[in-house]
Amino acid sequence: MKILLLTFICGIHALDDKLPEITGKWYTIALASNVTSKIQKGGSLEIFVHKLYRNENNILSGDFFKKENDECTEFTVSASQENGDQLEVEYDGQNLVTIEHLDDESAMFALHNKKEGKNTLWMELFGRTPDLSKEKKKKFKKMCENFGILKNQIRYLSADDRCEKLR
Ligand SMILES: *[C@@H]1O[C@H](CO)[C@@H](O)[C@H](O)[C@H]1NC(C)=O
Repeated sequence: MKILLLTFICGIHALDDKLPEITGKWYTIALASNVTSKIQKGGSLEIFVHKLYRNENNILSGDFFKKENDECTEFTVSASQENGDQLEVEYDGQNLVTIEHLDDESAMFALHNKKEGKNTLWMELFGRTPDLSKEKKKKFKKMCENFGILKNQIRYLSADDRCEKLR
């Protein structure tokens, strides 16, 4: 019994070690929102990820790009609360972020944005490469559907300039 239990615990730890990391360089492959104007060109939620990392206080942070009048700038956001897969991030209001999916190639997030009493739901698909497979995009579409976001509310960005110059 003891051996069995030990094997079991070691098994769990081995699995734990294999969990992919959320930190490192990413590309924004798709954005989705039930307020589509916010993810379109010039929208406040049209942001492109550069990298995620843990800052000096071990808090998950991210460097993102944003375009204003066709000019790219880089900015940093940090989680103010981190509770397992749930993060609180201040950007264009308050965002409650959940990591919905993570593997070696992609990450998917659902964000509930609250700004001046208005709620906006938005989703992000990140890839380790500038583009992702049809299967990964399908998975993201399915996730959006589960949150009530329609396929015409998804914007794919792989063919767009995501401030490559600043990478
Ligand atoms: C978007 O979704 C949020 C969260 O479900 C909801 O509170 C908000 O009313 C929705 N907005 C629109 C325009 O549908």
